[in-house]
Amino acid sequence: MNLLGLSGSPSRNAASRTLSAVKQAVEYAHAQDSVINSETINVRDLEIELCDGRDPALYEGDTKTLIDKILAADALILGTPVYRGSYTGILKNVFDVIPNDALVGKPVGIVVTGSTQHHYLVIEHEIKPLLGFFHAHSLPGGVYLTPEHYNDSVLVDEGALERLQQLATAIVQFAKHVPNDRNLLAGASGPEIPWESRLKGANKL
Ligand SMILES: Cc1cc2nc3c(=O)[nH]c(=O)nc-3n(C[C@H](O)[C@H](O)[C@H](O)COP(=O)(O)O)c2cc1C
Repeated sequence: MNLLGLSGSPSRNAASRTLSAVKQAVEYAHAQDSVINSETINVRDLEIELCDGRDPALYEGDTKTLIDKILAADALILGTPVYRGSYTGILKNVFDVIPNDALVGKPVGIVVTGSTQHHYLVIEHEIKPLLGFFHAHSLPGGVYLTPEHYNDSVLVDEGALERLQQLATAIVQFAKHVPNDRNLLAGASGPEIPWESRLKGANKL
């Protein structure tokens, strides 16, 4: 099983709270089952091209590397800071460059950091609908963290650590129970939208 942690904070500060929490959740998952291949990617460390509408298969360099790792993942732990009541721009770009079927049937655990408790519903109102488009299985709930849970960027709050542990347990158990053919549990397909027709549509605008 390949578990991919993906942290979408664009912060140049090495002490990203989001990255720290995603790493912690991935570590918890790995501790449960050492046969899990796990990796955490900090999106801002890569040079990801801005989505320009091309076929995702035509991206190169870091963009291709990231797309390939997402395609190879069996399960993901996705982290983002709240920016203006939603996920960050660099994460939006990742979701724009990946193929439509990149996440079909894959379980995704969600970790969000914000400066205020008021934005915890970002998990339900912003991130889950996006994952719904991709036919991923968003784990119920999610972990929402604020600065009070940290000492600098080190997550110290016991309740927060326990919630990350619960998320890690759920993602490992869920991934183990997804059939090899993920399409079996992915629900009805959306309409086929060929790349060619999208580009024609874009030119008309
Ligand atoms: C441009 C910008 C917009 C933000 N918008 C929100 C917001 O709407 N709600 C919130 O709770 N925090 C907001 N924040 C605070 C960040 O979500 C918070 O500091 C987060 O923990 C930073 O994560 P990081 O350390 O991984 O970069 C914003 C921060 C920035 C830079």
